[in-house]
Amino acid sequence: MKTIIEPFRIKMVEPLKLTTVEQRQQILKNAFYNPFLIPAEDVLIDLLTDSGTSAMSSEQWAGMIRGDESYAGAKSWYRFEKVLKELTGMPYVLPTHQGRASERILFELYGGPGKVIPNNNHFDTTRANCEHTGAEAVDLVIEEGKQPQSKHPFKGNLDPEKLEQLIKRVGVERVPLVMITVTNNSGGGQPVSLENIRTIRQICDRYGIPLFLDACRFAENAYLIKLRESGQSHRTAREIAQEMFSLADGATISAKKDGLVNIGGVLLLRDAQKAQAAGNLLILTEGFVTYGGLAGRDLEAMAYGFQEVLDEGYLEYRIRSTAYLGEGLIRHGVRIVEPPGGHAIYIDAAHFCEHLTPDQFPGQALLCELYRHAGIRAVEIGSVMFGKIDPQTGRTIHPPMQLVRLAIPRRVYTQSHIDYVIEAIGEVFDNRQNIKGVRIVEAPTVLRHFTAKFALLD
Ligand code: F0G
Repeated sequence: MKTIIEPFRIKMVEPLKLTTVEQRQQILKNAFYNPFLIPAEDVLIDLLTDSGTSAMSSEQWAGMIRGDESYAGAKSWYRFEKVLKELTGMPYVLPTHQGRASERILFELYGGPGKVIPNNNHFDTTRANCEHTGAEAVDLVIEEGKQPQSKHPFKGNLDPEKLEQLIKRVGVERVPLVMITVTNNSGGGQPVSLENIRTIRQICDRYGIPLFLDACRFAENAYLIKLRESGQSHRTAREIAQEMFSLADGATISAKKDGLVNIGGVLLLRDAQKAQAAGNLLILTEGFVTYGGLAGRDLEAMAYGFQEVLDEGYLEYRIRSTAYLGEGLIRHGVRIVEPPGGHAIYIDAAHFCEHLTPDQFPGQALLCELYRHAGIRAVEIGSVMFGKIDPQTGRTIHPPMQLVRLAIPRRVYTQSHIDYVIEAIGEVFDNRQNIKGVRIVEAPTVLRHFTAKFALLD
């Protein structure tokens, strides 16, 4: 059989509310043209994020009932710890309430003024947590990773030459760790090859620098390695994921992605002293080391999620259904970051809105039109999220790509939902000349995309 089906059936449904174009126009205005400020019930298809939006399985829900809510040493904690240790081989497992809590602890331990932390591409919270300690966050993705049309199979790879140059330029004592984000969310959800992780490991060994993974989407990365990297097709995604973790000294994970849960995170470490210090920081703001800011039932849900996500049938469906959305858009002439990655399709908004300059925020403008036309919510990954204000000129320094991300929640939408999205975006594309640019009316200095207010340009 050629057809790859959703490998689940639906036991509980959540109705979707239909709205009219006129209603959505008003809703957009009320939300200052920022989809983050739109009430979720007014969204028809919510592709804002794949984070915390997964549908849990019956096994996970059963685990929720079994959750042991003891403060210390709960049964749920031991179950969770065992699953994570078997998967990652890391001796120290710390639960956190989500990925950024792990990042905050990690960078408090390793960051600080004068430090420089390379990554393929730091995700927004990773960059913000790194910079919050006074450290500098540097993106060193390979050049192909910045070109939407390049078909390189591993556009998430960290450039080994750039890494060595950076270490030599700033001095090894200023580089406390190297990070690799799998898959590379800010760079189009693109995977990182095993070969690249091995190469970076060798460089880290040469200079005595620890290597960390930002492993939110480790399972999707592992499956894309299986599909795209030579010599890997015979291995299971689990075996590949285990090798990925074996190459690292630690990892931060937001379980809200490949952990298939609505809340939760993990910090993994190999170093006993750092683990001790991390545990102390965990207690300070998250909770005791055997629950880390979560309920016992959340640990149960994660324990099952981290196993289910490596099911080959699930991963085949997951990766195929993401590609299906990408292929549908390409057929309509929409330019996307190719090849499709794991969790999302990224539209090249600079191409979609060729009539708009980066200062008119083409990505944000497209977001608004997708919502107005079809009730679809997406997120901008471009000048709003990553633009920097030049302190001298007051002008925006633009990032290399203007993208709109359509993130696909796991096990939530069916193929007909995705067909609707393809059709709607095709219609918006046919009328793209009418998309109006936006200007920022009000914005905070850090992580401005969450709360900035915009106005439509005339
Ligand atoms: N690292 C990466 C690569 C991420 O994509 C995210 C979250 C985080 C860290 C932080 O995890 O949200 O649990 O604190 N990404 C979400 C997204 C928000 O929409 O891509 P968190």
